[in-house]
Amino acid sequence: MAVLVTGGAGFIGSHTCVELLNAGFEVVVVDNLYNASEESLKRVQEITGKSLKFYQTDILDREGLQKVFDAEDIEAVIHFAGYKAVGESVEKPLEYYYNNVTGTLILTDVMRKNGCKSIVFSSSATVYGDPAFVPITEECPVGGVTNPYGRTKFMIEEILKDYYVADHDWNIILLRYFNPIGAHESGRIGEDPKGIPNNLMPYVSQVAIGKLKSLGVFGDDYDTPDGTGVRDYIHVVDLATGHVKALEKIREMKENGADEVKIYNLGTGHGVSVLELVHAFEKVLGRPLPYEIKPRRAGDIATCYADPSKAKRELHWEATRNIDDMCRDSWNWQSKNPEGYDRD
Ligand code: UD1
Repeated sequence: MAVLVTGGAGFIGSHTCVELLNAGFEVVVVDNLYNASEESLKRVQEITGKSLKFYQTDILDREGLQKVFDAEDIEAVIHFAGYKAVGESVEKPLEYYYNNVTGTLILTDVMRKNGCKSIVFSSSATVYGDPAFVPITEECPVGGVTNPYGRTKFMIEEILKDYYVADHDWNIILLRYFNPIGAHESGRIGEDPKGIPNNLMPYVSQVAIGKLKSLGVFGDDYDTPDGTGVRDYIHVVDLATGHVKALEKIREMKENGADEVKIYNLGTGHGVSVLELVHAFEKVLGRPLPYEIKPRRAGDIATCYADPSKAKRELHWEATRNIDDMCRDSWNWQSKNPEGYDRD
């Protein structure tokens, strides 16, 4: 039996494929390569010395997905595929809702028709909006999301919860990621953003490599120790192992019957400010990183970090890599692959 990974060629997807193969799972990837490169999957196989199956298929393509289910014996799905740029989602709400929400409806309908009702969904701490409290537990109120991208994550969570209400045969785990950065320690796979990056770490890496001049630090007047925004950065390999643990949980749920939709925060539990991250990166780099203080970015919050104790208790998972490890591995990837996966 195999695990189907949608969006498996992307940043988190490719790292998860490595950990799944290392853990002995058979892996089938579906990706439309809209924002990813097949080269990442070649490298996943090179890192692990194991092979996976790849279908260049869109999750909106019902017939295409059916062909995958005809050819493969799928025990569970890890669903990463989706658009993910916050700013772009404000400009293109229809595209975001259609791709992310309709794509998930089609995927889960095909799953159901083929008797596969086990899914791990790639959600985000963005569902907590401006969090009612920190550290954020899974009980923290959700829904006050400020952009269409985040709302697709929230809506899909609600849709999947409704599936379980209607049909207790569904085994559903929602993983709420905090801020994934870093890269596989080999430096062979990593984050490869299109155009000018929106997120902090890819921006920092591109300043370090000389593609961008200077980092803008968005606000130094937040109510935080140094005035800059505080986030829970998590190493993408730790995040990937969280998915392996979630699949083990899914197997348990399949065997004993699921008593609810399971929700887990995947974070380290430690808040790191923008300037702390910059200084950790400078240590790895051995030179200062040019930055300047800019106004706050619209929609940003001051502080966001997880209480990851539920995942530790129930999934027997915890993050083991710290911010120095994350900066080292991000820089290792960026410096060895200045053009990412050599996109044309
Ligand atoms: C963002 C998204 C979130 C998404 C996540 C994926 C927003 C408002 N939120 O989270 O929905 O799930 O990415 O990883 O975009 N910063 C700078 N300069 C930069 C870039 C960022 O100072 O050039 C600061 C931000 O103000 C923030 C921190 O760095 O304090 C992290 O920003 P970012 O990496 O964009 O992540 P989030 O905003 O937390």
